[in-house]
Amino acid sequence: MAEDYHDRIRHKGLRDRVVSADQAAGMIEDGMVLGMSGFTRAGEAKAVPLALAERARREPLKVTLMTGASLGNDLDKTLAEAHVTARRIPFMSDPSLRRAINAGEVMYIDQHLSETVEQLRTGQLPPVDLAIVEAVAITETGGIVPTTSVGNSASFAILAKKVIVEINLNQSEQLEGLHDIYIPTYWPVRTPIPVVTPESRVGFPFISIPPEKIAAIVISTKLDSSSTVTEPDAETRSIAGHLTEFLKGEVARGRMPSSLHPLQAGIGSIANAVLHGFIDSPFHDLTMYSEVLQDSTFDLMDAGKMVFASGSSITLSEAKYRDVMERFHDYKRKLVLRPQEISNHPEVVRRLGLIAINTALEFDIYGNVNSTHVMGTNMMNGIGGSGDFARNSYLSVFVSKSTAKAGGISSVVPMVSHVDHTEHDVDILVTEHGLADLRGLAPRERAKLVIAHCASPDWRDQLQDYHDRALLRGGHTPHLLEEALSWHDRLRRTGTMKPE
Ligand code: COA
Repeated sequence: MAEDYHDRIRHKGLRDRVVSADQAAGMIEDGMVLGMSGFTRAGEAKAVPLALAERARREPLKVTLMTGASLGNDLDKTLAEAHVTARRIPFMSDPSLRRAINAGEVMYIDQHLSETVEQLRTGQLPPVDLAIVEAVAITETGGIVPTTSVGNSASFAILAKKVIVEINLNQSEQLEGLHDIYIPTYWPVRTPIPVVTPESRVGFPFISIPPEKIAAIVISTKLDSSSTVTEPDAETRSIAGHLTEFLKGEVARGRMPSSLHPLQAGIGSIANAVLHGFIDSPFHDLTMYSEVLQDSTFDLMDAGKMVFASGSSITLSEAKYRDVMERFHDYKRKLVLRPQEISNHPEVVRRLGLIAINTALEFDIYGNVNSTHVMGTNMMNGIGGSGDFARNSYLSVFVSKSTAKAGGISSVVPMVSHVDHTEHDVDILVTEHGLADLRGLAPRERAKLVIAHCASPDWRDQLQDYHDRALLRGGHTPHLLEEALSWHDRLRRTGTMKPE
């Protein structure tokens, strides 16, 4: 075993810090703030959190858990069920943790993904006691080489009092050189972030901290979990088709080149399927400046459509992961992974002029989007990076199927039950029925398009009736306040939005 990991711990002075996962978990004290690697099920520390959950079953303790985003290997589930997680920041997508959050047992701070480390370094969030970071290797100088995600790991390691490194022997050594770790200069003298194209490399290929801060090294072998995205279906293919037609029109009008602007695509099956749809489009030489690189990124590269992708994590299905790792040498020069505050940074997003494609749970006739709360109450996953991108992109697109739960829920509603993205941050709405281009339109004009183009035919008349009656009352954004959320109320009472 020793030989197995010696070439992964190249700083000789650190080799004697190798301990078991149980010993490392023993360093965690009740009430601590942990900053852990992991972003959309990729590159999370695995052995230490599992040992922590095990320990907490014998000896209850609670922590605040900060990560990049969601964790794989059922870690959020295991930690929630062991009652270790008292507070969770800034994103999750696990059903068990979601239940605990919605029951009020876990305090969840659902935050724009670019903001967490800014708030940490300025003391607006409580300081990180211990960072736990998965790595491919530790360099000769003590630099930590992350694995399949960067997320918030660099700033956690820099800001934490102590760092535990998990060297994962099953994460490919080919990942070394993929990362670009740039930390913005601190206020009050913040200088511009020098990323000017998706390809820009502006930092170091490792996380730089004083080696003496590395308090323990744990050797692990568990692989990342596979992504859970489902295959494109007829509806997501239609959504992709509408968006492609729209973008062809934008190119024809000379508003963008046929390589488009750099693309961002959100998490989940719908955004992955929409991006996949670009394979059959006339666009070429596409680039991505996104946070998570899913199967569709690599499919677009294989199809010769995409030339470069910048992200903060790589999250793939099992088959795609095998395939990508076998040919990683070919992909590596077309990829970079960055800290999430850089992949999602408002300054860079605006500079690059991104086309941001994110998914809505529901949107309303005036263009407000709810991405997070079912019936305005229950947390689904979180806002993630959707706000970072939607607010600052060149073109902010939200996609959704027009109905959910076998047609019992209309995703187009009179008024959203929770607002994540206001009408001011939304340019284009797309469902399988069509696309509404809201740019330059007043609320009354937007409503006409949203109802006619995006709503399911099953719900169109009811939406039109609502809007017609609201117009009689007048106002800039006409509403019938006593009725605006009645569809959600009916869903709560009867399990469907359909009229009783
Ligand atoms: N009301 C209630 N439930 C709804 C709904 C609505 N209006 N619309 C969708 N749902 C449910 C679906 O039925 C599905 O439930 P299930 O898991 O029980 O089957 C679930 O929401 C997920 O929807 P799905 O259609 O599978 O889409 P998705 O996998 O693409 O996820 C979001 C959609 C909105 C949940 C997801 O994109 C998300 O969490 N977004 C917020 C974060 C984000 O945008 N990050 C982007 C930067 S990475």
